[in-house]
Amino acid sequence: MNWKGRDVVSIRDLSKNDIEFVLNVAERLEEELKKGSLDYARGKILATLFFEPSTRTRLSFESAMHRLGGSVIGFSSVANTSVRKGESLVDTVRTVEQYSDVIVIRHPMEGAARLAAEVAEVPVINAGDGSNQHPTQTLLDLYTIKRAFGRIDGLKIGLLGDLKYGRTVHSLAEALALYDVELYLISPELLRMPGHIVEELQERGIEVKETTKLEEVIPELDVLYVTRIQRERFPDEEEYLKVRGSYQVNLKVLENAKESLKVMHPLPRVDEIHPEVDKSKHALYFRQVFSGVPVRMALLGLTLGVLEGI
Ligand code: NCD
Repeated sequence: MNWKGRDVVSIRDLSKNDIEFVLNVAERLEEELKKGSLDYARGKILATLFFEPSTRTRLSFESAMHRLGGSVIGFSSVANTSVRKGESLVDTVRTVEQYSDVIVIRHPMEGAARLAAEVAEVPVINAGDGSNQHPTQTLLDLYTIKRAFGRIDGLKIGLLGDLKYGRTVHSLAEALALYDVELYLISPELLRMPGHIVEELQERGIEVKETTKLEEVIPELDVLYVTRIQRERFPDEEEYLKVRGSYQVNLKVLENAKESLKVMHPLPRVDEIHPEVDKSKHALYFRQVFSGVPVRMALLGLTLGVLEGI
């Protein structure tokens, strides 16, 4: 597959081969980085358009571009942009592509990244569109699992929390369906994974167990992927108040887990993982943060078409 100029909008746009390829390139870049910064993207410019808050995604994309020897322009909030004057997303994208070689976009509206990709000539990478998709997070999640276990196949993976509004778990579940895994979907009743995603997983032959009780399934798991309740996506605050604080991973909960269980989280966390877990052998979430850089370097380098010979 020719990567140059390609958009990365949904994890569904990638085959298993594509995913494995990105992960392998990321691994090679991580190795190369140990010798110092690289210059594959010298002279290239990344534009980051963040219409929603972000810490890790934006900064790791920026770090990745700098580590590839390129440079970055962009905005981290619409407050000081012409969006405030009423400029449309399409016009903003058509403008920014005049200044850049690749665009990374995060937007509260589902489908915003697809729209941007349709109008832009330069590659567009989706850094999260509403509750829909977050494909680059998924790639770094898979990279983290592979680095920790040496494989993805054969693992029992639990997704815990807000499976209804969480875009990270929507993308991740769809990607995991390409592997030979058992999936446990653990959430309060009100925050269950959308039915169409569960059906799709089952159609692809994945064993899926849905439950509201973490304690019943925790002894089985190799990976527990925890998510924050996506408060900002709830149509009404009353609904949020019904589920607030309804689950927490702490050392007591982890007493029944396998020694080798790894706890992951895309972050930010609120109260769903107690900080006492951070120092335990189970915590993988800060290593997971680190994976964002090599994986996003791989994506930027591939879509820019500057990694020949790596
Ligand atoms: C996630 C997101 O923005 O969807 N954060 C991230 O990119 N690491 C998860 C979240 O906000 O809960």
